[in-house]
Amino acid sequence: MKNQPSKKILVTSALPYANGPIHLGHLVEYIQTDIWVRFQKLLGNEVYYFCADDTHGTPIMLSAQKQNKTPEELIQEVHKEHYRDLSLFEVEFDNYYTTNSPENQELSETIYLRAKEKGYIYKKNITQLYCPHDKMFLPDRYVKGTCPKCGAKNQYGDSCEVCGASYRPNDLIEPQCAICGTKPIEKEQEHIFFKLSAFEDFLREWLKVHVDEGVRNKMYEWLDQGLKDWDISRDGPYFGFKIPGEENKYFYVWLDAPIGYIASSLNYFKKVGKANLFDEFWKEENENKTYVYHFIGKDITYFHTLFWPAILKASNFRTPTSVFVHGFLTINGEKMSKSRGTFVKASSYLKHLDPLALRYYYASRISNTLDDIDLTINDFILKYNTSVVGNFANIFSRSAKLLEKLNNQLSETITEEGKILLQNIQQKKGDIIKYYEERNFQRVVRIIEEIGSEINRYITEKEPWVMIKQDEEKTRQVITDIFNAGWILSIYLYPIIPSFSKGIWEFLNIPVNYECNFNAIANNIEKQTLLPPKHKIHPYRHLAVRIQKEQVDNMFKEEKSPELEKQEVNYISIEDLNKIELKIGKIIEAKEVEGSDKLLQLKVDLGEEKPRNVFAGIKKFYKPEDIVGMKVVVVANLKPRQMKFGTSEAMLLAASDKETLSLIVPQKDVSVGSRLS
Ligand code: MSP
Ligand code: ZN
Repeated sequence: MKNQPSKKILVTSALPYANGPIHLGHLVEYIQTDIWVRFQKLLGNEVYYFCADDTHGTPIMLSAQKQNKTPEELIQEVHKEHYRDLSLFEVEFDNYYTTNSPENQELSETIYLRAKEKGYIYKKNITQLYCPHDKMFLPDRYVKGTCPKCGAKNQYGDSCEVCGASYRPNDLIEPQCAICGTKPIEKEQEHIFFKLSAFEDFLREWLKVHVDEGVRNKMYEWLDQGLKDWDISRDGPYFGFKIPGEENKYFYVWLDAPIGYIASSLNYFKKVGKANLFDEFWKEENENKTYVYHFIGKDITYFHTLFWPAILKASNFRTPTSVFVHGFLTINGEKMSKSRGTFVKASSYLKHLDPLALRYYYASRISNTLDDIDLTINDFILKYNTSVVGNFANIFSRSAKLLEKLNNQLSETITEEGKILLQNIQQKKGDIIKYYEERNFQRVVRIIEEIGSEINRYITEKEPWVMIKQDEEKTRQVITDIFNAGWILSIYLYPIIPSFSKGIWEFLNIPVNYECNFNAIANNIEKQTLLPPKHKIHPYRHLAVRIQKEQVDNMFKEEKSPELEKQEVNYISIEDLNKIELKIGKIIEAKEVEGSDKLLQLKVDLGEEKPRNVFAGIKKFYKPEDIVGMKVVVVANLKPRQMKFGTSEAMLLAASDKETLSLIVPQKDVSVGSRLS
C-alpha cells in the first residue's frame, strides 16, 4: 500500500572532471545527492541516479600528454578511481558513465543540429592568443602574465588573484604560454556561437519556476547585465567531439558535459531494457509528467540555469524540473588548501576514517541554501562520537547484551508505555519526510537525534538491567519496545548512513518480506509489535566505533606536501630567534669514535669552566688533526643529548649540499665565548 502514486524521478550530480581525484569538497555534493535519492526511494518513488566523468577539454588533453598517455587511457584510469572512491562512500549510482561515449556524441550532434536548423547557431571571427610553439589556441588559464590593473606578476589570463580584477588574456602585460613560456601571438579564427541572447525572455520565466529564490536572484543579476552569445567551438588540437560539417572544430567541453547527463541515462535505459523511459524523461511534451533534478555546486550555476535550459529549449528537449545549488566546503572555516594539507582526497580519508562519519557530519550541516559548509574538525569528531556511537548505537548495544541472557528472543507484545513511545516516534515521520524532501538534512538530523535520545531515556528509566533480576518476561517486553523503536529510527536514518541501518537490520534479523521504508512505518504502527511476535534476533555485533583525534591528524599529515609546505614562509619572531644561543667556540681536541663511521668526538672550549663534549657528524669531511685549533659557531643552549657513545653537550653549525659539508667559521678572529648577534 502506498500513500501516493509513485513518481518517476531522474537525479544527477555534476560530472567530476577526469583530471583529478575525488576530494572532500566533491563529496559534499555526491553525498547530498545520494541521501536525497535514497530518501526518494524510501518513499516508494521510481528514482534513477545518474552521473559520469567529465572527460573533454584542454586540461585533460595536456595532463595526458604530460603523463605520456593517450587521453583515452587517462580518462579510463581516472574513471575507475572515481567510481571506486564514490562507491566506498556509499554513493550509489544507477549508472556512472563517461562523456566520451557514443551516446553522448550522437546526442551532442543532434542537439547542435536541431539548434542550427532553428537558426540559433552562427559563426563569427574572434581574436585569441595562440602559442606558435605548441601550435594551439590558449584557453584563459593557459596564459600567464602581469595583471594590467595592479601589476602583480604571474597571473592567469582570466583574473588576478591579487587584486581580483577580471580581464581578457589579451589584456595581460607580457603574456606567456603557461605550457612552454613562449610569447603568444594574436590570431583571428572563426568560432561557432549559440544565440543565448535569443532566450532572455524564456530564461526569465523559466527561472521563476525552476530554481530557489537565492539562485534566481543571482541569475537575474546576470540577465540584467545582458546575455552574451555563447562560444561553443574550440579549434584543434582539442580532446572532444568534432563538430559535424566543420574542419578541425570541436564542441567546447561545457557543451557536451551536461548532455552527458542525458547520455548516461540513455546508456542505462538501453542496457536494462527500459528504452521507453528515455522518452518519458527527456521528450519536451513529458516535461510535467516526470521529474528531472540536477544537484550542482554554486560555481557552475551559470552553466546549469542559463546555458543548459536554453540549449535544451533550442533543441526540443525538456528542461529540468529544478536545479539544486549548494555552497562550498571549507575546513575549519578556511578554503581547502594543498599547502595546509586540507585538500583531502577521498582515498586519503578512507585510509584513516569511516565514510559513515563524513556522511553523517555533512548531513548535519547541509541545508537548502547557498551557504558554504564547514568541516569543523572538533565538531566532526564530537558529532559522530556522541550521536552515532553514543546515541544510536548505544540503544542497541545496551539492550542486546540483556536479550542475550533471554536467548535473543523478543516477546509477543509490546508494553502500553512502549506503544506510546512508538507512536511518538511515528508522529515525527511527517516532519522527517518534509525536511528530507526540502533537502534540509540539518533539520532531519536534529529530529532523529531527539528520537534517539528519547529511546535512550526510555531505557534509562526502565532500567532493564535491574528488572531482569526480578521479571524476565517483563524485561523481554521492554527490550521489544526498544528494538521496535530502534527499527523505526534505523529507517529514518537509512538515507544518511545506509550501511549503519543495514547493520541494524541484519542484527535485528528483519525478515525478507519486510519492506524497510516509510510505508512500513505507517502500515504497521497499529500492531502490537512491528517486528514479528516472538522474533529471534542475531547476536549483537558492533555498529560503530569512536573516532580518535589521531586518526584525523594522520589523515591531514598524509595530505601535507613537503614541497608546498616549504614554499610557505614560516616566520619566526625576534623572540624566537633570541632563544637560540650561538657562541664562538674553539675545538681543542678531536678524535674518531670507535664503531662510528660518521662521528668525531670533540672537546670545544666556549670560555666556560669546562670544555663541552660534542659528537659531530663530520667524519667523512674532516680529519681530526685538521680541525684542532679551529674556531667554530656553536649552538650553546641545545639540550644535552644522550647518544650511543656518550652525551653531546652542544652542536656545531655546518652547511651541506649534495657534495660536501662545511663547518661555519668566523671570518675574522674573535674571542672564544663571544655571542653572535
Ligand atoms: N565538470 C564540471 C561539471 C560538469 S556538470 C555537467 C565540474 N567538475 S568539478 O570536478 O570541478 O566539480 C564537480 C562538482 O563538485 C561541482 O558541482 C562542484 O561545484 C562541486 N565541488 C567541487 N569542489 C567543491 C568544494 N570544495 N565544495 C563543494 N562542492 C565542490 O565542475
Ligand atoms: Zn606554448
